[in-house]
Amino acid sequence: MKYTDLGLVNTNDMFMRALRGGYAVPAFNFYNMESLKAVVNAARIAHSPVILAVSESALKYMGADMVMAMVRAMDIKPQEQIALHLDHGRSVEVCARAIECGFSSVMIDASDKSFDENLKMSKQVVEIARAHNVSVEAELGTLGGVEDENTSGVAGYTNPEDATRFVMETGINSLAVAIGSSHGAFKRGREDEDLRFDILADIATRLPNFPLVLHGASNVPQKLVTIINEYGGKISGALGISVAQLRRATKMNVCKINVDSDLRLAFCAAVRKGLAEKPQSFNPRDVLNLAMTAMGQVCLDEIRDIMGSNDKL
Ligand code: G3H
Ligand code: 13P
Ligand code: ZN
Repeated sequence: MKYTDLGLVNTNDMFMRALRGGYAVPAFNFYNMESLKAVVNAARIAHSPVILAVSESALKYMGADMVMAMVRAMDIKPQEQIALHLDHGRSVEVCARAIECGFSSVMIDASDKSFDENLKMSKQVVEIARAHNVSVEAELGTLGGVEDENTSGVAGYTNPEDATRFVMETGINSLAVAIGSSHGAFKRGREDEDLRFDILADIATRLPNFPLVLHGASNVPQKLVTIINEYGGKISGALGISVAQLRRATKMNVCKINVDSDLRLAFCAAVRKGLAEKPQSFNPRDVLNLAMTAMGQVCLDEIRDIMGSNDKL
């Protein structure tokens, strides 16, 4: 399937505009109808470009046919600037399959491999993607954290010199950098712990006008953490990246900010609270509606307060 038949766009143009405008395009992960609707509706309300991100495991969970059918059902128009993106594709094959299915952007994440192997795999994906006008993101360096299978557990900051060579030789469209963020809800020991803006500045200087990507960028809103803990959850100590630091990154060539955990928190907070407050209800749609609204609110808040991508269509 061609992504243009679904009204989708690749990320090239939206990134160039974001670079020029000093804002970031949000990449929100989705994994079911509710999260997809929440993200698309929020982007529509805010007049924001948006990247619909699907991880390998979310793709397996929903099935590629279901993903494409749901995206089609959203009746997306090209002027809405919506991309469908494979998040953390671990192999050339999975990227190629996503492109065949109709994704408009793919990430090849070979960041756990050697520099040479990462370069080789990223180049192969670029070759395949180019024929379909699909954008390619790759990653250099490794994110910290131990929360999911997309994280190696050991943080290794991106080497700015390597980054320049990697971008030149691979022909990728954007680069995910490791500057101290990590996946999941337990990112920092202290609230004032800084991202490595010195490394980001160095990369941005060596690669002027080149789109950079920040993974593991959830803000972890404390009001959601409080609700989850109040209603039986156990995630005390969850801490994200501050709004101020994320905004600062958007001024330093970071034009895609990845958020998954914040939507998961919103979903779980709404479901826990909803079930507790209406113990007589056993209609799943009651809590799923609450969850959809809560995820949509997080998207809207972050589009406006962090990304700065509202009213940019
Ligand atoms: O970066 C990764 C996302 O948080 C996706 O996680 O593989 O559990 O869907 P997942
Ligand atoms: P968070 O876990 O911080 O939401 O990061 C999501 C991400 O990087 C998806 O690729
Ligand atoms: Zn990620």
